[in-house]
Amino acid sequence: MAGLLMSPLLLGVQASIQNPEVLPTPPMGFNNWARFMCDLNETLFTDTAQSMVSRGLLDAGYDRLILDDCWMRKERAADGSLEADTVKFPHGIPWLADYMKSNGLKLGIYEDAGNLTCGGYPGSYGYEKQDAELFASWGIDYLKLDGCNVWAEEGRSLREEYRVRYSGWHDVLSALPTPLIFSESAPAYFSDNASDWAVVMDWVPSYGELARHSTDVVVYEGGDGWDSIMNNYDFNTLLVRYQQPGYYNDPDFLIPDHPGLTKDEKQSHFSLWASFSAPLIISAYIPDLSDEDIAVLSNKALIEVDQDALAQQAALVSRDGTFDVLSRSLSNGDRLLTVLNRGAATATTTVSLARLGLSSESDCQYAARDLVTGEEVNVDSDFEIKLDSHATVVYRIALPESCAKTIPTGMVFNTPSGLCLTASTDQSVTFEKCSASDSQVWNVAATGDGSDVTLRPLSDATVCLAVGDNGELSLAQCEGAASTAWEHLVTGHLRNTLADGCLARNSGNGGIESCVVDSAAQIFGLPSGVRLAEGDLN
Ligand code: GAL
Repeated sequence: MAGLLMSPLLLGVQASIQNPEVLPTPPMGFNNWARFMCDLNETLFTDTAQSMVSRGLLDAGYDRLILDDCWMRKERAADGSLEADTVKFPHGIPWLADYMKSNGLKLGIYEDAGNLTCGGYPGSYGYEKQDAELFASWGIDYLKLDGCNVWAEEGRSLREEYRVRYSGWHDVLSALPTPLIFSESAPAYFSDNASDWAVVMDWVPSYGELARHSTDVVVYEGGDGWDSIMNNYDFNTLLVRYQQPGYYNDPDFLIPDHPGLTKDEKQSHFSLWASFSAPLIISAYIPDLSDEDIAVLSNKALIEVDQDALAQQAALVSRDGTFDVLSRSLSNGDRLLTVLNRGAATATTTVSLARLGLSSESDCQYAARDLVTGEEVNVDSDFEIKLDSHATVVYRIALPESCAKTIPTGMVFNTPSGLCLTASTDQSVTFEKCSASDSQVWNVAATGDGSDVTLRPLSDATVCLAVGDNGELSLAQCEGAASTAWEHLVTGHLRNTLADGCLARNSGNGGIESCVVDSAAQIFGLPSGVRLAEGDLN
């Protein structure tokens, strides 16, 4: 599809979080869907609530339970109201919300922006205000709004239709005396088309607090748990730039009792989600979880990372087919290092301080704590890491005052293709399969001018990504070259300030093209903490 040329106004967009106070840190709790699907009822919710209290999960921060699809009757009442299925919920939903409150918990609910929910129950289309007011009157403070059965009105594209509906919901929910937390499933309906997906993601953070962006995690006994977790993990790594306090990317539920998951895989799932500052919503039968599973879910040090006030999402530093290395910053200045072994065998790797954006000057010694074992190590050059298959380690690294400076550092990659921006020794730049070489790890430093950044490969600290005299992508000496200034936009575009063109994976134009909204080739993922060009989406 031919793309629209971007107007400067459109290019300068940044999704603004309208009210970060609605959900200052990612939600934690329980949802029935992946474990029980439509087989939900009052007893499941009251038993789960009791268990969350008695097993310490509430104290650990898991304070909400969310009813998913199939909680209601198949028909609305004569006045248009939704009604709960009274066989499943004999005391009704307001009673259940009160029950939760009296146990220090909160209740959330599921609906759909279309005519029907995915399970075939009445959708909210045309009843938005009535349903929202009903939920609020029931004592509910959280809405997961799915996007099944949405059809575009004439003259609108489907992605525009979703925008109209979800923005309408945003208005309705924020007009309530206490705005409901809004979990948006819209992006999940576009994850198979990179440019539609990006355009939908661009508005999602300005309407709600979290968004399910990709396929459902596998349901109980429904398939390979680890493959499903890795699938959703991979989608999440593409969306780093959107997350900020008040809006969280949602890679879906934690599934600790999914059959077949090993101890390491369950720990990895939790460690990765916490590194992302993702929502921690358990979909399992909590009363029957083993003490070991509860201990994984209650890891205080990882929950602190998840709930960190900066809400940075760990981003890929490198990837080589076996190891994924990710990093981010924390609000007290600490750096996080997360390493996952995706391979089938035990393996070792090395991560240098430079790859974490840290200084390796001789007097810089860093104290790093393994957040699962609690073990402390002192590091002054490289992390040596040995991991079993599918295991993950997370280090929280304290920075001494004299070595506290960090530079956002990591892969710069075209998110739809997964190809890495790669520096060559002949000053050319190409897009290659990611291999974790220093030529694919970039320092993305703010220049001090407006929102400009420079991109410098670790393989040669003297050169920066630039646009050459003939408009081609190249490497130029960082000092003095004007064409090394770039802007990173929340849309994923990397715009060269001087050339007024955007980085593109297509090599036809030397890697620089006119900036276009609908171009999968122009969408890039960068390290966490890169300054975004400012602008207003609206
Ligand atoms: C899916 C959604 C699941 C669950 C299900 C209910 O679309 O992604 O999380 O809510 O619908 O029917």
